[in-house]
Amino acid sequence: MLGRALVTLSILGGAWAQSEFEPADFNVTEALLQKGIDVSSIPALAGLVERSSPSACSIACSSLQTIFGDHKVITQQSASYGAFTNSYWSVQQASVDPYCIFKPTSVTDVSAFVLISRLTQCQFAVKSGGHAAFSGASNIQGGITVALEKMKDITLSSDKKVASIGPGNLWYDVYTRLEKENLTVIGGRVAAIGVGGLTLGGGISFFSNRYGWACDNVASFEVVTASGIILTASPTKYSDLYWALRGGGNNFGIVTKFNLETISQGQMWGGSRAHLETEFPAVIDAFVNLGMNAETDVDAAQILSFASAQGMKIAAADIQYAKPVDNAPIFSEYLAIPNPIVDNTRVRSLSDLTVQFNASNPNGLREMYWTATYKLDKEMVTFIKDVFYEELASIADAASLVPAATLQVITKPQLANMAKHGGNPLGLSPEDGNLLLLDLNTMWSNPADDERILSYNKRVYSRTVEEAKRRQLGENYLYMNYASQYQAVVPSYGEANQQMLQKIAAKYDPTRVFERLQPGYFKLDGAPAGTGSGGA
Ligand SMILES: Cc1cc2nc3c(=O)[nH]c(=O)nc-3n(C[C@H](O)[C@H](O)[C@H](O)COP(=O)(O)OP(=O)(O)OC[C@H]3O[C@@H](n4cnc5c(N)ncnc54)[C@H](O)[C@@H]3O)c2cc1C
Ligand SMILES: *[C@@H]1O[C@H](CO)[C@@H](O)[C@H](O)[C@H]1NC(C)=O
Ligand SMILES: *[C@@H]1O[C@H](CO)[C@@H](O)[C@H](O)[C@H]1NC(C)=O
Ligand SMILES: *[C@@H]1O[C@H](CO)[C@@H](O)[C@H](O)[C@H]1NC(C)=O
Repeated sequence: MLGRALVTLSILGGAWAQSEFEPADFNVTEALLQKGIDVSSIPALAGLVERSSPSACSIACSSLQTIFGDHKVITQQSASYGAFTNSYWSVQQASVDPYCIFKPTSVTDVSAFVLISRLTQCQFAVKSGGHAAFSGASNIQGGITVALEKMKDITLSSDKKVASIGPGNLWYDVYTRLEKENLTVIGGRVAAIGVGGLTLGGGISFFSNRYGWACDNVASFEVVTASGIILTASPTKYSDLYWALRGGGNNFGIVTKFNLETISQGQMWGGSRAHLETEFPAVIDAFVNLGMNAETDVDAAQILSFASAQGMKIAAADIQYAKPVDNAPIFSEYLAIPNPIVDNTRVRSLSDLTVQFNASNPNGLREMYWTATYKLDKEMVTFIKDVFYEELASIADAASLVPAATLQVITKPQLANMAKHGGNPLGLSPEDGNLLLLDLNTMWSNPADDERILSYNKRVYSRTVEEAKRRQLGENYLYMNYASQYQAVVPSYGEANQQMLQKIAAKYDPTRVFERLQPGYFKLDGAPAGTGSGGA
């Protein structure tokens, strides 16, 4: 199937390739009619036909109001408009003003929406949990923001092996619902993160050493394509689209249901242990050794953050164990480190742990995430830590600053799980060895500091990446869920995977609706901010 699309593509150069999902003469008006929406009966659209139109989005928003009623369309005049934009995690996203907000309640609403956007050529963005940090990632200035928050069904298959999750759910909703059944799914570690963004970009969970990333544990996706068709993509049906959605982001359609494989899960153990600078060498040893030895006990997980508070250097080790076991032997090196200034590790539920981590990520601040990947190496961890604190000096007086360099290991067992269900497009394999993943994350409040905080991020990125190259510890992969708008994520998956993703997009979406009409976030050709490079 794919082969045929490829051949046509190379002849036509992509723009109007033949596609079995959308004929070259696809008629949007006719497609809407088939969904019971008669364009000629919508006053605002009559205006479009006569070309006496005001802006495309004014027409699109009034059409949505005519079709769906005021309760699904929030305009700038609505009382709830401000509360909606304030629901984003970062101030950069909360400062974006869409022309209107559309809140679909069903997959057919989403399907009609895509066609209305095409007909009017009004651009849109899609929001699940709203935790992507940069402006325009899931909100759009002057366009339509599709908020999935009313699509929150959670149902279990009769054999309880698959949970069907509506795309407006947050992980807290999912975990608390499944805990009643002693089940869970592979998802996020912070309560308020959305199912949508995390899963489409990858998704690292507490349980990833046993099961892999969130995207590798999806049984199937229900997706609305560019021509409004509703497909269920799985390892056996539309398997190319299924592959693309496991890390390819928002470029292929709007996912209206995440059908996730369940696992048995009761209480677990976990929390944070924080240490001062005197213990840093021991903390780094414990982190690297646990990363190297992940295979020996795949119930263990860890996140190590170097941070700074009131001028004090702090290393916070978030450690978790999938079983309700205190102080499992795999953590002995961490647990032997004396004098923790914080230790709240204990046996608890998954949802409880995600609420604890949520508390340290409040809404209402400016946010930047920046990522890099290296081979796992102890000297490299120390180098990253040193560069982080050195460069931090240049922004230390920024108001409300909360800076951290958060490190994780993409372990061999995680990499091996990426081969599940036909593999994913991330371009990683167990032969890459254990990888060290940086999430450089910064919170601050004053826009006057934006520029120097950006330049701080670029310096930490380029100094550490150059050092890794020098030591032959370089790795190209950029993790979408931690990347900044200046980073070219999809090209970092490797040329072959990038090209395959482009071919799949051309097959299911020949006019590139999800790239042109939905310009925000990581597109298939480069960085959102258009620099085209991995960093500086
Ligand atoms: C505090 C915090 C904790 C985090 N913890 C983790 C973690 O434990 N593990 C991890 O891997 N990552 C984690 N992340 C990163 C997180 O995965 C990304 O920020 C992710 O984009 C958030 O998803 P969201 O749905 O909340 O975001 P949104 O901003 O709503 O969406 C992000 C992107 O996905 C697209 N999208 C969302 N839903 C759909 C859909 N249904 N169909 C098509 N496109 C869609 C949006 O259009 C947007 O472009 C964390 C981030 C933060 C801020
Ligand atoms: C598209 O379909 C509509 C409704 O069936 C029809 O009126 C219109 O002529 C068609 N347009 C084209 C270009 O075929
Ligand atoms: C979940 O596990 C607990 C503890 O083992 C048990 O008491 C309870 O009956 C289980 N619930 C279900 C729905 O299986
Ligand atoms: C997560 O934190 C935010 C901001 O502090 C808060 O508004 C929200 O209620 C929390 N969500 C959950 C599910 O705990």
